[in-house]
Amino acid sequence: RTKIAVFASGTGSNFDRIVTEMQGGRLSVDVCLLVCDKPGAAVIEKADQYGIPSFVFDAKQYDKKESFEREIYEQLQKLEVEWVILAGYMRLIGYTLLQAYPERIINIHPSLLPAFPGKDAIGQAFDSGVKVTGVTVHYVDEGMDTGKIIDQEALRILETDDRASLQRRVQEVEHRLFPATIQKLISE
Ligand code: GAR
Repeated sequence: RTKIAVFASGTGSNFDRIVTEMQGGRLSVDVCLLVCDKPGAAVIEKADQYGIPSFVFDAKQYDKKESFEREIYEQLQKLEVEWVILAGYMRLIGYTLLQAYPERIINIHPSLLPAFPGKDAIGQAFDSGVKVTGVTVHYVDEGMDTGKIIDQEALRILETDDRASLQRRVQEVEHRLFPATIQKLISE
């Protein structure tokens, strides 16, 4: 099984789905570590419940990105992590990790990139009046949601949608697309 680390900053619904797909034998990974940059985030409790170790840090305690990424990298090396999976990690990845994991860091983003990069992509799409949005899985580079696209799935915005229902429907797509894409990549 391929060793992965999941990076997340918030609720962790994608983290949760990756773990349950793994437990159900549909995803042949070993989630070795959660990396979280938000002490107190709900995802940390989820990792605890599953008995998955977590590395939690506060970027404000470090002088620069390189300093905390070096610590993260030490953990990843110790656990022999092969792939880094960003599941709602709201921070740009720096040179230290990009260089250590070339084409081995992937991210999920809740829009059809290159439309609506950055924060609150679902709200951005809703407010813009587009009729179709979706989900993108892409390789991570130094930019904000700019790396090479691996897969996308489109979703129609309904007349009856509000932000909450759109968010729910986009996340349903994420929870299906992300584990399936990860499985495809690691079995290539
Ligand atoms: C997900 O919708 C993910 O696509 C998004 O954060 C959410 C995390 O939800 N990521 C980004 O916006 C990255 N730019 P979760 O914590 O419930 O998995």
